[in-house]
Amino acid sequence: MTLEKRVKPWIAALAPYQPGKPIAELERELGISGAVKLASNENPLGPSPRAIEAVQRALAGVHRYPDGASFALRSKLVERLAVAPEQLVFGCGADELLELVAKAFLGPGDEAVFAWPSFAMYPIVTRGMGATPVPVPLDADLVHDLDAMAAAITERTRVVMVCNPNNPTGTSVGAAAFDRFAARLPDDVVLLIDEAYVDFARREDFPDALAWVARRPGTVTIRTFSKIAGLAGLRVGYAVADRELAGYLERARHPFNVNVLAEVAAVAALGDREHRERSVRQNSEGLAYLRRELAALGIETWPSEANFVLARPGPGTYEKLLREGVIVRPLIGFGMPDHVRITVGLPEENERLVKALRRLVEEDGR
Ligand SMILES: Cc1ncc(COP(=O)(O)O)c(C=O)c1O
Repeated sequence: MTLEKRVKPWIAALAPYQPGKPIAELERELGISGAVKLASNENPLGPSPRAIEAVQRALAGVHRYPDGASFALRSKLVERLAVAPEQLVFGCGADELLELVAKAFLGPGDEAVFAWPSFAMYPIVTRGMGATPVPVPLDADLVHDLDAMAAAITERTRVVMVCNPNNPTGTSVGAAAFDRFAARLPDDVVLLIDEAYVDFARREDFPDALAWVARRPGTVTIRTFSKIAGLAGLRVGYAVADRELAGYLERARHPFNVNVLAEVAAVAALGDREHRERSVRQNSEGLAYLRRELAALGIETWPSEANFVLARPGPGTYEKLLREGVIVRPLIGFGMPDHVRITVGLPEENERLVKALRRLVEEDGR
């Protein structure tokens, strides 16, 4: 007997998430050094220095299990966000929180509605529970088409995911459109607002997800320390929801899903205003630089409220940039062979990318 007949069919059919190519792998393949990775929306400034110190201090204590309640981190966020302690749920990255929502609310016969292209984990966590993904195409400006998403909701819909700002486009929805959408959702549908990039968003009318959590039972916003705090390698994120919903996620999680080092690093990063402000400043300068320089090369880009930009340099660009030692994110998997997603890097990394693109444009004789 083979396991083929025993494995859940929706697990056997899953295509695993494709992460960005690691720098070391590209350097090995090309026999080069000094490659640049602008592929995974990481913080190019590195982790918060306070987080590094906190991790160093905590290292000698890793023979102990973590605090399963993440008391220190919870207390800090209660203060910061003005929510009740029971409204917070912590996870091994925001990824785990997406999975907990799926685990708690999705099963065979259920549907999850989300925009597409959007974060690649939405269909994965949905299918992973045997449920059916309902991707709704972005509009002509590559922004969430909230009317079409509302129209896609059926009796079977259990969860609606809104990624704001959206990965991989960087585009965002404003408060007026979002509020209209959220107000007309059926009461028994979970509204998941993925705010992994919220710290970089600068538009004044950015929707207030926490106000929706307070106003609408069944609403959850998900955030991460992977981006602004530069802690992607430690894996820690959190959800804010009403008490009932948070209670279900809490029941579904593993007891020690946030490790000792991740928790102390997250607490320290929350206290590191300087790193946060520097990260935002450097990101907005980098974004403006990339959009300006790519426009000068005749390459279309989209407005971004995140730490990356969607660009349309034409087919084959991902591979050509790899040969120049620059890793960006290909979007072929989304049916967008002409586009790539570029993470904002340090000024010298951004310049390296622009130079490489300039060479490619010149080779093409454009
Ligand atoms: C939109 C979105 N949500 C969630 C995540 C997951 O973040 P984490 O590293 O906290 O698991 C990412 C990571 O890239 C993301 O882009």
